[in-house]
Amino acid sequence: MAPNPYLPFKAEIISVTRQTDIDWTYRLACDLNPRWGQFAEVSIPGVGECPISISDFGDGYIEMTIRRVGKVTDVIHQLDQADHLFIRGPYGQGFPVPDFYGHHLVIAAGGTGLAPVKSIINHFYRHPERLNRLDLLAGFKSPADILFKEELANWAKLFNVLVTVDKKNSENTAIDCKEGLITKFVPELEIPQLAEARVIIVGPPVMMKFTAQEFLKRGVAEENIWVSFERKMCCGIGKCGHCKIDNTYVCLEGPVFNYTRAKNLLD
Ligand SMILES: Cc1cc2nc3c(=O)[nH]c(=O)nc-3n(C[C@H](O)[C@H](O)[C@H](O)COP(=O)(O)OP(=O)(O)OC[C@H]3O[C@@H](n4cnc5c(N)ncnc54)[C@H](O)[C@@H]3O)c2cc1C
Ligand code: FES
Repeated sequence: MAPNPYLPFKAEIISVTRQTDIDWTYRLACDLNPRWGQFAEVSIPGVGECPISISDFGDGYIEMTIRRVGKVTDVIHQLDQADHLFIRGPYGQGFPVPDFYGHHLVIAAGGTGLAPVKSIINHFYRHPERLNRLDLLAGFKSPADILFKEELANWAKLFNVLVTVDKKNSENTAIDCKEGLITKFVPELEIPQLAEARVIIVGPPVMMKFTAQEFLKRGVAEENIWVSFERKMCCGIGKCGHCKIDNTYVCLEGPVFNYTRAKNLLD
């Protein structure tokens, strides 16, 4: 009999890092070997299951940054080091990272959209010689929503990192940030050789749509832009149809799409 594809395995929580009041990063002990940008289904027995991006991975561990928004994520946030989560995956198509080698990579991430690309930035942080140049535009609603502050500070030592907030307030942030939507800063980006630019955009659908338009206006070719969808999902393996947009199963064919395809999926 074929193994049950819905059967999760138990993964111990190695550490919990609070990024903001509602976004916590869980490092889990497991040998998942995901690809950049893939997701996994995370469950709590008796409560439910939800898809979460794998925000980083290494020998014997994966990380997930989980925002507390409802039924399952509320319970996950009650767990601590040495507790367990249940995982199945990894699922979906990730980013074609080796195709970016030697190029100028621009990453535009909105809010929790920074999670699915964090492992890519860390990869190039460890191997900066594999890229010509990396620019990161990371946009958040307010200073209190900024994720991965420590990593942002480290990445800024090697890459051009611009952190933006929709509205600055009196909060004191350790990170220097500019006020405005990400779209406002795309025209100011230095892109010395357009044909060399490879662009990743991850965030809410409206942010991805308008940010992509800004890059297209700059002259970046559609086929050199990738986006990732956080479409509502259930099974994660092409069985339930919850994630379908027209005839596309986002869980199987995505969540990462080249823009030539994604432009027809973004409302
Ligand atoms: C491929 C993929 C990757 C994701 N990666 C992450 C991640 O790295 N970190 C993270 O915190 N979340 C991520 N999400 C979103 C996460 O799956 C939802 O927040 C989660 O399912 C909420 O479950 P819940 O039971 O706690 O909330 P529920 O009680 O089910 O819902 C609470 C509220 O959240 C809304 N909601 C539920 N699912 C989604 C969704 N997919 N998108 C937008 N709103 C939703 C509901 O409409 C409701 O308003 C991802 C989703 C997908 C599809
Ligand atoms: S989530 Fe069930 S088919 Fe995609």
